[in-house]
Parts: sequence; structure tokens; C-alpha cells
Amino acid sequence: MNQPKVDVLLAANWAASGLVQDVRRGLGSVPRTLPPKWLYDDEGSRLFDRITRLEEYYPTECERTILRDHAAEIAATSGATTLVELGSGTSDKTRLLLDAFADAGRLDRFVPVDVSEETLRDAAAMLATRYPDTDVEAVVGDFTLHLGHLTRYRHKLIAFLGGTIGNLYVEERGAFLGALADSMDAGDELLLGTDLVKDADRLISAYDDAEGVTEAFVKNSLRVLNRELGADFDLDAYSYVPFWDRRMQRMDLRLRTEMPQHVTIPGADLELDLASGEEIRVEISTKFTEERLRDELGAVGLEIGHMWRDPSDSFAVTLARKVG
Ligand code: AVJ
Repeated sequence: MNQPKVDVLLAANWAASGLVQDVRRGLGSVPRTLPPKWLYDDEGSRLFDRITRLEEYYPTECERTILRDHAAEIAATSGATTLVELGSGTSDKTRLLLDAFADAGRLDRFVPVDVSEETLRDAAAMLATRYPDTDVEAVVGDFTLHLGHLTRYRHKLIAFLGGTIGNLYVEERGAFLGALADSMDAGDELLLGTDLVKDADRLISAYDDAEGVTEAFVKNSLRVLNRELGADFDLDAYSYVPFWDRRMQRMDLRLRTEMPQHVTIPGADLELDLASGEEIRVEISTKFTEERLRDELGAVGLEIGHMWRDPSDSFAVTLARKVG
């Protein structure tokens, strides 16, 4: 059996310094924002895992259905011998792809990329046992910082699943896709999972579940700041406000206070005065149309080869190829 290799690209202070920077920039200016990557501490990851199993939250199940039904076709269509997965986590969905590629007998290497070293080490060890013919080269990295590392792999398929790209603002998305395309040779491929524009009602209920799990997940962001930066957010003073922004075609998830709040965040050397009615945007979740995907991918030289949708047309998995 091949021993999995683990490359650590993240600086030891990545989380600490990144969080402080993001808090200063995002909370120190109006409108107030907080980047969603800080939602995933242990408690946040546990809550997100519960979200994926909620009746109202369709994306995870829809994407799994697509991969279950079409992984063999994806493997047959792809010319890749290396599969890279960005933000892989423990991803059980990855296995559907790995099984299909293994059956096709063409996969030399699997490169899972994630910020959590522990999760990666566990996953890498498990995968190395399960796929003895495939080299596992895990990368502890941030997909907004370390895409340059991927240039070393030829004939690769880069999978970015879960609809995570929808968390990025439009300019961040452009920069991310540009950097991604730069890390690819002509003929390399991207497999991208995206949630699709649909009924506002269905979207809102997916992000405002009856059990309040999503609310707890979004509010946990303040708990992270209290713990990591010694902040004194009073969690009970904020209500959860999710809404569908039709113009921007995205869910917009905010926390709102009805009373003025004075908040100190010693770890970021910051004091905030929030007015009554002020909101903090914690996450956006952009929804796509085929046309928008074609435009945004086309702008960085990625040409759509095939788009698979689940039977309810809720979610899409797109295979695009780098041209030129
Ligand atoms: C993990 C980014 C795909 O945007 O649907 C779920 C995160 N936030 N419920 C999404 C999330 C609230 C999720 N992604």
C-alpha cells in the first residue's frame, strides 16, 4: 500500500492572522460583513453536517444524486489521471467519483485539498487503504491562496463540489476562477457543483429551517469571535435574517440587532458601536443559471463540456475544459 503524502502549505498562524484581518476589514466598516470561512470551527462543522441532513436543505442530496447517477459518465468523459478535490473535508461524495475513476482504471493520483489538517490526515489514510492503486497526496491549504501548487499536476480534473463557490462575492469568484484557470494546462478539467436559481420559497426554507439549525450555524460565527478574539457579543441580542436577493441572485444571511450594541473585540483591537436595526452579513450563497456559468467560466478560458442536473433541476454539476 502507498503511504499517503501530506503537504502543509498553511502557515501555523493562518487562522489566527486571517481571522483578525477579516474581522478588522469586515466588521470595522459598514455594511458589516464576516467571511463565511470562519463559520466552520468544530461546532460549526457539526452544525453544517446537521444542515446537510435537513429535510429543507436540498443541495447536498441533489448533488449526491447527480454523482451517483453520473459518476461513471463523468469518469468516462474525463481525460484526467489526477483528481484534485478542493475543500474535500471528509467528503463521502468524493468516493462516488473515486470509485468511478478506479473502475475506469485511469486514476494515478488523488489530491485532496483542505484547511483542516486533521480531517485530511484521517481521510488520506482511509483513502490510501481503499484505493491501493492510487497515490494520495493531500494538501493542507486554502483554495483562495494555494492554487499555484496545482500547476505540477498534468492531466488533472479539479473537483469543487457542494456549491461552495456560491459563498464568494462576484469579484472574489472572478479572482478565484482566474487563479484556478491559471493553475490548469489546456485540456485540464474542472468539475463544479453549483446550486441553481429557483423559487424564492424553496430557497428561503432551505436557509431558514424549522428546527433552527441554520440559525444556530450562522449565530455560531459570533461565538467563534467571542472565543478566539475575546469578543463580548451577546448572542441573544441578534436575530437571524435570511433573505433572497433577487437582483444579485443570492441568499443573503444576516444577523440583526434591534438594540444598539457596544461590542469590544480585544483580539482584533476593535470596538464596535452597532446602531439599532444594524445588520452583520455572515454569508451569501449565490445561485446560478446555465448562462451565468457559461459566461463566468468562459471569461477565464473554461469551456463547458457537459452539465448534469438532478431530476428536480435544483442543482448542477458542470464539467468544463481549459481551452487554448
Ligand atoms: C456549504 C456553502 C454550500 O451555501 O448552501 C448552508 C453553506 N449556509 N446553510 C450553502 C450553508 C447555510 C452552504 N455551502
